[in-house]
Amino acid sequence: MTATSPSSKTGIEMLPVPMTETGPDMDVVEGRVSADPTIKGIWCVPKYSNPTGQVYSAKTVERLAGLATIAGAHFRIMWDNAYVVHDLDDDPPVLANVMDACRQQGTGDSVVQFASTSKVTWAGAGLSWMAGSTATLDRFRQRLQVATIGPDKVNQLRHVRFLGNLDGVRAHMRKHAAILRPKFEMVVRHLEEALADTGMGAWTNPRGGYFLSFDARPGLASTIITLAADAGVKLTPAGATFPYGRDPNNENIRLAPTFPELSELDQAMQVFVVCVQLASVRQRLGA
Ligand SMILES: Cc1ncc(COP(=O)(O)O)c(C=O)c1O
Repeated sequence: MTATSPSSKTGIEMLPVPMTETGPDMDVVEGRVSADPTIKGIWCVPKYSNPTGQVYSAKTVERLAGLATIAGAHFRIMWDNAYVVHDLDDDPPVLANVMDACRQQGTGDSVVQFASTSKVTWAGAGLSWMAGSTATLDRFRQRLQVATIGPDKVNQLRHVRFLGNLDGVRAHMRKHAAILRPKFEMVVRHLEEALADTGMGAWTNPRGGYFLSFDARPGLASTIITLAADAGVKLTPAGATFPYGRDPNNENIRLAPTFPELSELDQAMQVFVVCVQLASVRQRLGA
């Protein structure tokens, strides 16, 4: 969520919003938007949200679509659908159509949707998309035409030839899923075997996307990450997924199992759970 602030370099201040299993806590969002007219928009990763992996519910999508009716016509929802086709299962959860929800509430200009093939074909050499109302796209085109002479048409053709159509995209993503599913399962197996019912942490088991989210006991995320680094396992820095890198509870650790081979991941997860156990026991003992 953003609001203007003279204290930030860009003039945009980011405010973290608590996440629930159905997406951002909409009571908090609506409360803040009603109370503070300087709030201009909200950034959303609606499917397999980064880092928790949750998919926004239809009710959340509907309430987000209604924000411009509270905040006013200036309000923008940045719909960063980076994991739109990144399903692990053959029967993936369905994300409600935000533009339909906006049109029903007369807020079609408030949503800007985007996605890319960064995590489909080739990061850094993919295609990206933007969708919005005619007014939104017209405004964007006016700016884009002075920012770039034109798209990379050869790369567009490459993608069309490689992916073909939506069925081609789905078939391609099933190949990704075949590689990724065993990795996600490996992470969850280690967490369950070592930490289930210990009170040392809670984690998500997403049905897609690229991350699992682990919540340690409050105050322990940075300690666990340091312990793991000392043992040779590099994790995402504590707080990395929060605005300004500040996790108010210092408890969240994003686990990204996509890159390592299964055997490396097996070792890394053995180290990770031991670090969680060590840090938790030390905290309990006041050591
Ligand atoms: C949520 C989210 N949005 C956007 C991006 C970046 O997308 P792009 O590489 O197309 O700029 C990423 C990471 O790649 C992401 O995880």
